[in-house]
Amino acid sequence: MVRAAGVNPRDVDVLLADVTGRSPAWLFAHGEERIDPSALESLMSRRLRGEPLQYIRGKTEFFGREFFVDERVLIPRPETELLVEAAIARAPRAARVLDIGSGSGCIAISLERERQDLDVTSIDISVAALAVASHNARTHQSRVRFAASDVFDAIRGQFDLVVSNPPYIPAADYEQLEPEVHDHEPPGALTPGPRGTEVIERILDARRSPVVILEIGFGQLADLRQVAAGYEVAEVINDLAGIERVVVLSRHGRK
Ligand SMILES: C[S@@+](CC[C@H](N)C(=O)[O-])C[C@H]1O[C@@H](n2cnc3c(N)ncnc32)[C@H](O)[C@@H]1O
Repeated sequence: MVRAAGVNPRDVDVLLADVTGRSPAWLFAHGEERIDPSALESLMSRRLRGEPLQYIRGKTEFFGREFFVDERVLIPRPETELLVEAAIARAPRAARVLDIGSGSGCIAISLERERQDLDVTSIDISVAALAVASHNARTHQSRVRFAASDVFDAIRGQFDLVVSNPPYIPAADYEQLEPEVHDHEPPGALTPGPRGTEVIERILDARRSPVVILEIGFGQLADLRQVAAGYEVAEVINDLAGIERVVVLSRHGRK
């Protein structure tokens, strides 16, 4: 019955484990235990209405840490871990790093926790998202500084590295997204406008940073090359599905 409604049966196990405080393995081994079904029913009815499991649970895992998430922020995706790995490997010692589009804070906090020599600032246009990111920073005792800004508008100075998983889905494609994403995740985290590159174009300001590491969408590398005046593509990293997902850009003429 659950499967027919499009819900993975494993979701039931996960929610049952959450409401009982027991692991799925314990529950499997103790099938005779009786529980009060009302708490599970209310969570399952949200899931059956298409709400993502991560919002129902109020948490997800990213780069080995648990992050609080709700409908104010994008659910961190596994492929974004590739961006964090690239930044960890490439950031010079004690570098000033700017993360554009904090969301849950998953990129900035992971980077700062893994590389505590870095001076990491993270900005978002959404004050609601910044509240979630700050909460996660406190949980992880992270020193990331958060600020509200429309790309660089409220941010002065230069950085050694800019990282971003920006909204990059063209508006027409956004309308075709599955309801679980379209109807629940923040639209401003997903689409910047008709071209899909509107925020990317503003991030690629060569006066601000010699290196930019960006997550991009399926088939977007050609569009990125078109708008990347001032930068050259230094490296492209594919995700597990073989999709060009993370791009390292170097300012032209940089040795
Ligand atoms: C794709 S989400 C990424 C969130 C998080 N970094 C992650 O990887 O899960 C993009 C984020 O960029 C923010 N954003 C969208 N337009 C922006 C702008 N013009 N300036 C700053 N942040 C923006 C959104 O509010 C959203 O939190």
